[in-house]
Amino acid sequence: MKIPKPILAAFPVLFFVGLLLGNLFFFRTQEQGQKLYALHCSSCHMEKGEGLAGLIPPLKNADWLAQNPEKIACIIRYGQKGKVLVNGIIYNHPMPANLKLSDTEIHNLTNFILSNFENQVPKRTFEQIVKDLQSCH
Ligand code: HEC
Repeated sequence: MKIPKPILAAFPVLFFVGLLLGNLFFFRTQEQGQKLYALHCSSCHMEKGEGLAGLIPPLKNADWLAQNPEKIACIIRYGQKGKVLVNGIIYNHPMPANLKLSDTEIHNLTNFILSNFENQVPKRTFEQIVKDLQSCH
């Protein structure tokens, strides 16, 4: 089948419009994650995710994140109590829950952390986050 010229000519335009929309979407989700972090997390985990010696575990270059990516969503929503080992140091202070954050907000927040603060953990899909949140106890 022969594709008519005007349609063929529109392809590059459509391609760039697609790229632009994709980028806008990417930056919006990244930006939401960053804002939520500043609002709900940075007071304890600090602006650059470095934590607070002996009290608050780091999110920066944190081995815990790479080892437990499926638990991050639950910790954000329900907080956490008990001992946790991060980069060779044991922490044991309660972290409060964030019951008002939606699944989408938790998704953007999780991926902001996983791809910033020197972490190189693969991002989680929205479907994975929904599943993670269903298995919190
Ligand atoms: C009031 C202080 C406080 C706030 C606010 C807070 N956390 Fe925490 N967070 C902690 C503490 C303390 C622990 C260690 C919990 C324990 O000892 O079991 C922790 C543990 C964690 C862990 C697991 C250990 C690690 O370092 O990887 C993650 C992930 C985490 N927090 C992410 C977040 C995110 C994301 C937010 C924002 C939604 C947040 N925290 C807000 C204090 C806080």
